[in-house]
Amino acid sequence: METVSVQEESLDALEAPVPARPKRSKRSRKHRADPVKPSGQEKKSSQKKPRMEKDDEEPEQAQAQEQNTAEGSPPDEPADSEQAPTKPARRGPPQNRFENQLHERLEAGQFRWINEQLYTTTGTDATQLFKKEPHLFDIYHRGFAHQVSQWPSNPLDIFIKELSKRRGLVIADFGCGEGRLGRSVPHSTVHSFDLVARHPHITACDLTHVPLQDATCDVVVSCLALMGTNYPDFIREAWRVLKPGGLYRVAEVASRITNVDMFVQLFKSLGFELRTKDERNKMFTLFAFSKDASSPPARRRIGPAMAAEILKPCLYKKRESRSAILRDQSS
Ligand SMILES: C[S@@+](CC[C@H](N)C(=O)[O-])C[C@H]1O[C@@H](n2cnc3c(N)ncnc32)[C@H](O)[C@@H]1O
Repeated sequence: METVSVQEESLDALEAPVPARPKRSKRSRKHRADPVKPSGQEKKSSQKKPRMEKDDEEPEQAQAQEQNTAEGSPPDEPADSEQAPTKPARRGPPQNRFENQLHERLEAGQFRWINEQLYTTTGTDATQLFKKEPHLFDIYHRGFAHQVSQWPSNPLDIFIKELSKRRGLVIADFGCGEGRLGRSVPHSTVHSFDLVARHPHITACDLTHVPLQDATCDVVVSCLALMGTNYPDFIREAWRVLKPGGLYRVAEVASRITNVDMFVQLFKSLGFELRTKDERNKMFTLFAFSKDASSPPARRRIGPAMAAEILKPCLYKKRESRSAILRDQSS
């Protein structure tokens, strides 16, 4: 399929004639609630991003089967620093260069471990993890921000620019992270959702059960957030909350998508039509889908094995450290 520019064209989709509103499903009626905590204006965050090692910057796509077979063995043996973190790695700022390096290493390992949990479990498991250890969410987001800062551009900036041009939209940010979109789109109402509410404008929830009424949103955004083995259920939920003809803006890590046509087909089976796709960026692919109200998502659930065949988990492989390589060479 042709690659097209997304920004302008995808917003035009909002102006397309609106098909008839679908009947509500039993399931969707359960989740009716008033929209919650719309966002305010952008405030500059004062949080400093710690540097992480170059060694930790290589995303590795795990094979679908590796993640979903009964054996379930992880693709790489975790390094010592990648054991489940249970406590903040350190209190107080590092005192010297050595401590600083140690801290960076520990945090990089913790980031990889948390990232793996998010891609290989469901939102329910991840919620439990963050409930027990809320600081892990911050470690994850520092690591994630570091990774994305090395990309030529951040897809979230593209969505912010695109949506800021419009007024009066109702937008739902599915997997908002630290909620930057909600603070940066001034003339619309943004509902920001994530497993952990790190800011007052964010609502903590699982993306399979978002506290919005049916057919209330003009736009749903999913920016690098189709994580979890049950991510097709997030797509169903996006369909539920979108108005007929509403726009679903999706950005995903390009190397996660095994086959773009299959990925698009998945959205089609869940009630969406492809409007645009943009594969120009090496790191991520952008999509604009619109809700086809006459075609509700197929009832049959898409299992984790099939889901991971279409969109692989994005895991980061620890490169061998220089000392380990030197050790091997000398033996
Ligand atoms: C890679 S981050 C991207 C954050 C943000 N969209 C951005 O681009 O900066 C993905 C986010 O999705 C959230 N997420 C993953 N699974 C979720 C679920 N089941 N329910 C709610 N949030 C989820 C994660 O907690 C994480 O904050």
